[in-house]
This record gives sequence, structure tokens and C-alpha cells, in this order.
Amino acid sequence: SYFCFQQLLENQGVRSIEIPSHPRHGVQPADVERALGRFDIRACIFTPNFNNPDGSLTPDEAKAEIVRLLAARGIPLIEDDVAGDLHFGPTRPSVFKMHDQAGLVVLCSSFSKTLCPGYRIGWIMPGRFYREAYEVKATTNVCSATLTQETVAAYLREGRYDRHLRALRRTLREQTQAMQLQVSRTFPEGTRVSRPEGGGVLWVELPRGVDSVELMYRAREEGISIAPGTIFSTQDRFSGHVRLNCGNPWSDEVARGIERLGALVHGMVSGDA
Ligand SMILES: Cc1ncc(COP(=O)(O)O)c(C=O)c1O
Repeated sequence: SYFCFQQLLENQGVRSIEIPSHPRHGVQPADVERALGRFDIRACIFTPNFNNPDGSLTPDEAKAEIVRLLAARGIPLIEDDVAGDLHFGPTRPSVFKMHDQAGLVVLCSSFSKTLCPGYRIGWIMPGRFYREAYEVKATTNVCSATLTQETVAAYLREGRYDRHLRALRRTLREQTQAMQLQVSRTFPEGTRVSRPEGGGVLWVELPRGVDSVELMYRAREEGISIAPGTIFSTQDRFSGHVRLNCGNPWSDEVARGIERLGALVHGMVSGDA
């Protein structure tokens, strides 16, 4: 999951359980049910639409089933839908919140991925936790800066946001596909790369034995930034994965960077770099 969640929970002194997520089908209700049977779970947090880092999309039926499983036990579900508008296909995926009859889903999103990363403006639909959400916000920073909020509100009122999103989705899809292709061209055999249906990250499984943290250090010396899989889990299961960010415009420089990264992986496979 998104590494900030782990830090957030750790800072709160909360113990967390990881539910598996798969790049092709996201989170499966059976895994949630198994965890509910084994642990005393008090709340869940998921990114069902184009999860960071594996890019997965949890299907609508699975979302409905997960909401049902949690509602039956009165367990709150925090939903991070920050990339939901960035679908590559024609339709926007649903949210857990759509299936929420009990008011237990706390839907959160922001404009950080779609409009203005620097503003850090978001929103929350806290369901039955309105009072608690209000108190946390009010006692954290009273309110977000009004100037940036007004700026976003004025932009939305102008009615050009939809057109902007259409162009952004196309751009992200092209950038993601270009990066996928370049990875498959330049990385050694044994590499597997995700095929996300939205968002803007690629989850890459490196050939057996290649350590992603070591790769990160070597890449950094060449001015290439990647996120090693280890930062996205509390378990030591993803040391052979990296997350690539496709959010930058595709260019010869980016293409060369991926090629160079591939060469570093080649070197680590043969043990001579
Ligand atoms: C999955 C995910 N959730 C939440 C955020 C944070 O967004 P914001 O700072 O707008 O809350 C990010 C990235 O910044 C993210 O990748």
C-alpha cells in the first residue's frame, strides 16, 4: 500500500495487517474475510482504484462484497480514491462509498493527482464519522488555506475540469504505455511489468535475485529516481519489485533513463555491475 499509510498508522501507534493486492484484480473479498476471521480488525484502509504502487483496480462486484463484509461487522472503511478519475478506459470505476448503506465508508480524495499537486487540496465524505472528521481537521490546522481553495473552486465553476481530465487521462495512458514498452524492450528476461487500467505508476517485478534497494542506490547515482518495493509493505516480500512513475512527459531523456535502468538491472543479473 501507499507508504504514507504505514507511517501514519505507525505514528498513531496502530497495529496494521496487510491484505494482499494483485496488479490484475486488486483486493479480493475472500482475503478480507479471512483476515476478519483471524484478527480483531477495527478499521480498514484501501485504495481500490489504481492502487499505489501496483496500479490495481478492485472490480465493482468485489467492492460491493467488501463493503458488505465490513458493514455486517460494523467496521469502518477508509477509502482513498485519489486516482479514481484517471481511468484509461471509457468509464470511471465505482467507489466503495456507492455501496455504503451504513455510513461506514469514509471517502477521501484530492486534486493532487489531477489538477495541482502543490496545493494539497482534498475532500472527505465521512459518512457517520462527520463529527470526528471535523474535530480532527479543526484541531490539526483549523482549515486549509482559503486562497488555494478559492482558486480551485473558481476553476471548477468555469466548467473546464472535465475537458482537462479527458486530456490528462489520454496523456497518462500514453506515457504509461510508452514506459511499459521501453521497460519490455530494455530490461532483461525475467522482468514482469504491470498493465494498469488507470493512474500513472508501473509495478515492475525484477528478475530473481535483483535487489530493488541496491538498484535504487545505483540508479540515483545516475540521476534516475525509482521507488523500491520494500517501502510499500511492512513485510519483506517486495525487495524484488520497483515502482516507476509515469507522471512526467515522455521524452528522449526519460526513454534513455529507462534504458539505463534496464542496463543496470542486466548488470545486476549477471553480477558484474
Ligand atoms: C495513493 C495516494 N493517496 C494519497 C496521496 C496523498 O494525496 P494528498 O496529499 O492530496 O492527500 C497520494 C500521493 O500524494 C497517493 O499516491
